[in-house]
Amino acid sequence: MRSLLPALLAAASLLAGCEKKQPAQAPAAPATPELKAPAAPPPASDVILLGEVGSLTGAEATFGQSTHEGIQLALEQANAAGGVNGKKLEVRVYDDQGKPEEAANAAVRLINQDKVKLILGEVASTNSLAMADKAQAAKVPMVSPSSTNEAVTQKGDYIFRVCFIDPFQGYAMAKFARETLKLQNVAVLQDNKSAYSTGLTGVFQLRFAEMGGKVAGVESYSKGDTDFRAQLTALKKAKPDGIYIPGYYTDVGLIARQAQELGLKAVLLGGDGWESEKLFELGGSAVDGSYYTNHYSPDSPNPATQAFISAYKAKHNGKVPDSLAALAYDAANVAVAALRKSKSLEGPDIRDALAQTKDFDGAAGKLTLDEKRNATKPAVVLKVENGKAVFAASVSP
Ligand code: PHE
Repeated sequence: MRSLLPALLAAASLLAGCEKKQPAQAPAAPATPELKAPAAPPPASDVILLGEVGSLTGAEATFGQSTHEGIQLALEQANAAGGVNGKKLEVRVYDDQGKPEEAANAAVRLINQDKVKLILGEVASTNSLAMADKAQAAKVPMVSPSSTNEAVTQKGDYIFRVCFIDPFQGYAMAKFARETLKLQNVAVLQDNKSAYSTGLTGVFQLRFAEMGGKVAGVESYSKGDTDFRAQLTALKKAKPDGIYIPGYYTDVGLIARQAQELGLKAVLLGGDGWESEKLFELGGSAVDGSYYTNHYSPDSPNPATQAFISAYKAKHNGKVPDSLAALAYDAANVAVAALRKSKSLEGPDIRDALAQTKDFDGAAGKLTLDEKRNATKPAVVLKVENGKAVFAASVSP
């Protein structure tokens, strides 16, 4: 079943940005065996094809799914507004199952086979890092909606993002923990297979100590682990008043439950990787009273945020979009704006147009891309309360 899913998603998503029906796909053998999707038909000449790579399945599935919903909404609206100089936008999406090797394969396929003009993705920094080398080498611009590790855009001048970076995100949590929660002694539990997690750990350690706090100890796990008791038991000995867990929601939910079982009373702290409705399901009461940094709060009165939320809710039975959907919507809209301004549909021209993005009124806040192709934006701190995340504070860069 798993092998069919990417193909189905790739086929289905072709229709997402465009009313026109694509011819049915022949059940051909996969062209690249490592990616088990049959070749999709080439786009019509009145179509601009974009690529998307995301974790539509696996332990970070809500990241890819929310991101896809945000991109679809942006492209639908762009097409309804005339597309790009009369051409319709379509997106071809590949599921990388949350794996960096699959993300790199998908990028190669989008570049060489599908010949996309621009790639949207990934969410997880480790996956974006794996894709970025491919996009940079081929001079195909890549816009990550939500990868925050500093190294992602350092891969080269074709790699952009529309979110803040982890040196800021880690600082924001250190500041909140120290100044608002008045924590003294915070332990850290990091995923040592994730560039995002190890990066945030480093920043948090440095900043929290600079602010006069003590880092009680650092323990590691690897994505996919299910038993964190040894690490939590070791951290418990240092009697921390907080535990910073810069991981993704599936792991965090389990970690929180095991910390509760072991009688750890410390307040749990996290980063944007906690952002998923699944966190509350997996973590239950064990995540109540925790805090995490994030890119946006749906409670923001910002008109661009509220317009996005209304449009998204109308399409998804009243569901409130998470920050991934908001950032993906922004990334796709920034891409569309650049395509409309670009001198041609060649990579270097699209790149140049992207680099000029300024004062863009996004759903997740106003954004200007700096010379390092990053956005500088405030972060919000959310508090988990009764199975949902509510606004607690905003931290400015
Ligand atoms: N910032 C995370 C990373 O770089 C991804 C992420 C963004 C997850 C936003 C959830 C919400 O890996």
